[in-house]
Amino acid sequence: MTNKAGPESDSKHLPAVAMYGPCTVSGVKKGDVKLWCACGLSKNQPWCDGSHKGTGIKPLKWTVSKEQRLFQICACKYTKDPPFCDATHTNLPSQVLHQQEVCPRQLDDHHSNNKLCTGCGWVPDF
Ligand code: FES
Repeated sequence: MTNKAGPESDSKHLPAVAMYGPCTVSGVKKGDVKLWCACGLSKNQPWCDGSHKGTGIKPLKWTVSKEQRLFQICACKYTKDPPFCDATHTNLPSQVLHQQEVCPRQLDDHHSNNKLCTGCGWVPDF
């Protein structure tokens, strides 16, 4: 596995939560290279589709290092072991709601046309 980016690479940029649970992924093989969506905006979860552009968050390059039928890949984007699910999502909803309620950028960024407030993870369709 190669971890080169992701949400832990820059704690000032918080991602959107794509889903409060993992994506079960099959069909990847040892040596495959995947780009894990770290911003939470991709419509092709858990993989990057380029939607991160302009957010300051970059995808994580994952080189599959072992043969395995199924992988549980993080979709909440708050894992501490990207791209894998570490069950962080189980306690995440109240944390995310709180950080959005106290976000100092909410009056500016949340009412503009921004696609993601990286101060709290708010997105227009949250
Ligand atoms: S990192 Fe989310 S779309 Fe690229």
